[in-house]
Amino acid sequence: METLQLRSRNWFGRTGKDGFIYRAWMKNQGIPADMFEGKPVIGICNTWSELTPCNAHFRELAEAVKKGVLEAGGFPVEFPVMSLGETLVKPTAMLYRNLVSMDVEESIRANPVDGVVLLCGCDKTTPSLVMGACSVNIPTLVISGGPMLKGHWKGKDIGTSDVWRFDVAHKLGQITPQEFVEAEACMARTQGHCAVMGTASTMATMVEALGLSLPNNASIPAADARRKVLSQLSGRRIVEMVKEDLTLSKILTRKAFENAIMVNAAIGGSTNFVIHLLAIAGRIGIELNIDDFDKYSQNIPLLANIQPSGENYMEDLYYSGGLPAVIKEMKAIIHNDAITANGKTMGENCAAAEVYDRNVISTMQQPFKPESGIVVVKGNLAPNGAVIKPSAASPTLLKHSGKAVVFENIEDYHARIDDPALDIEATSIMVLKNVGPKGYPGMAEVGNMALPKKLLEQGVTDMVRISDGRMSGTGFGTVVLHVSPEAAVGGPLGLVQNGDVISLDAHNRTLQLEVSEEELAVRRAAWKQTEKMHTRGYVHLYQTHVEQAHLGADMDFLKGGSGSEVARDSH
Ligand code: FES
Ligand code: MG
Repeated sequence: METLQLRSRNWFGRTGKDGFIYRAWMKNQGIPADMFEGKPVIGICNTWSELTPCNAHFRELAEAVKKGVLEAGGFPVEFPVMSLGETLVKPTAMLYRNLVSMDVEESIRANPVDGVVLLCGCDKTTPSLVMGACSVNIPTLVISGGPMLKGHWKGKDIGTSDVWRFDVAHKLGQITPQEFVEAEACMARTQGHCAVMGTASTMATMVEALGLSLPNNASIPAADARRKVLSQLSGRRIVEMVKEDLTLSKILTRKAFENAIMVNAAIGGSTNFVIHLLAIAGRIGIELNIDDFDKYSQNIPLLANIQPSGENYMEDLYYSGGLPAVIKEMKAIIHNDAITANGKTMGENCAAAEVYDRNVISTMQQPFKPESGIVVVKGNLAPNGAVIKPSAASPTLLKHSGKAVVFENIEDYHARIDDPALDIEATSIMVLKNVGPKGYPGMAEVGNMALPKKLLEQGVTDMVRISDGRMSGTGFGTVVLHVSPEAAVGGPLGLVQNGDVISLDAHNRTLQLEVSEEELAVRRAAWKQTEKMHTRGYVHLYQTHVEQAHLGADMDFLKGGSGSEVARDSH
C-alpha cells in the first residue's frame, strides 16, 4: 500500500512534531493507531442539513458509506460543506453554487483525504460538489440521495410539477386554500429530493451518465433500502478507486460529456443541466460549448415517460429498469466504451439491464415523444444563445411570432401580471428582464412565469415566455431561458419594448427581435443598468466575476483546477 503514495501519508505518515500534531487530535475521536497506518483515507463530503430537506437523511447514508469503506480496508472521515436547499435559500440557491464549489474544493485539498465520496441531492448540491472536486481531481464517487416516493392527493399521484398546477387552480378558485395546504403534506411525504425529472433527478442522472456513480444511482428512491446498499457498495468501491488511482479526469473525458448530453435528452432532463454541465467541463478542462447540447441531443427522442415531459415519477423509472435500461436502449449511439467509476465501461454496466414497463421506458424506434433534448436558439435577441426544452413545450408555440409584453424585473412582473388593465393576449410573448446571473443576482428560476389570471380564466394554458433567467426542472411550458448576454450587462434583451414583435422558431434555432438595427442602436445608447451591484461580501465577488449563462455561469477565476498538492505544513 505504501507504494501507492497515498496523499494522506503527507499528514498521518509523518514523524516528529508534524506527524504528532496530525495524528494526536484525530485520536480524541477514539481512533486506534492502526487506522493511520497506510489505509486510504476516504472523505465523505456531506451536504446534510435540516435546511436542505431533500438531503436531511444523509447522515444515514454517510453511515452506510462508512461501513463500506471500513469493509474495504479504508478509513472514513465525514465532513460538512455548505448545503443549498432549493426551496428555502433566497434569493436563489444558484447564487451560491460557485461558493459551495469553492468550499468543497478547498476542503478536499486542504485535508488528508485520498478519495472522496460526494453526498449530493437537492439541485445545486450536485453540481457544486462535482465542480469543486474536479478542481482537485482525486478519486471521487458520487452518491445521490434519491427521489421521494410520489405523493398522493385525492386519489391522484402528485409530485413537484403539480406545484405549478396547484398554483393556477388555487388562483382560479378551483381548489380551496385548505385543499392547497393539505396538498403540501401529501406531495412531500417521504425523504428524498423531488420525485419528478426536475433538476435534482436530472443531476443524479447526469452523474450516472458521466460514469461518476455506481449504476442505478439516478433512480433508487431515497426511502428504498437499496439506496443504503448503493451507499455501502460505493464506500467499498471508492477504496478500490484510490488503489487504482481512478481520478475524476480519467472518467470525465469528452465521451463522458457527450454521453451525459444524449442521456439527458432521452430522459427529458432539466434545462439547468446545460449550465451545470458546462461549469463542470470548465473545471475538468474539457472543451464543451452550448452548441454541443443541441448537436448531441438533436436526434435523441424522449425515451422516458416521466414528469414534467411525461406522466410518471422517478420511482417508476427504477421499477421499470432504471437508467441502465434507458442507456441500453441507446446502445447504438452512446459511447459504450466510456469508463465509469466501478471500473467497467458504460456498455458493460448496462448490458444486463431489462425494461419491465414500456409505458415508462420506450424504444428508440417507438419513442414516447419524437423530439426531446435541449434546443439552442440564437438571433439578435440572444447572440450567444438561449435554450428551450421542446419536450416540455407546446408544439404549436415552438414556431411563433407575437408582440412583447415586457417586465423590467421580477418586482415589475409581480406588480402588474394580474392587473386587469394589462395589455396582453394569448398570442403575446412575455419578456422578463434582469433575472440573469449578474442581474438577479444568481439567475433565479423565475423564467416559467405564471400566466396572467385573466388569460388563465379564458382557458389559456401556455404562452411563449422569454427571459435571461432559469426555470425549475419541474417546470414546463414554451419557455425560452438563459438568454445571453443578459439584460443587466447590456444584452439586447434589455432593449426590448412593449409591442416589439419577437419571432421564435425552435425548429430553425432562431430567436429574433423584429426591430431595425438603427432603432436598436438608439435604444442601446440610452440604456442604463438598473439592477443593484453589490459592493461587499460574496455577492460582490459573484457579480464581479460570474460569467454568462452560455459559458456555465461559473466565476472566471474558478475555471480549471489547482490539483491536490499542498506543499506547506500548518505549524
Ligand atoms: Fe430539493 Fe426539488 S427542492 S430537489
Ligand atoms: Mg430548482
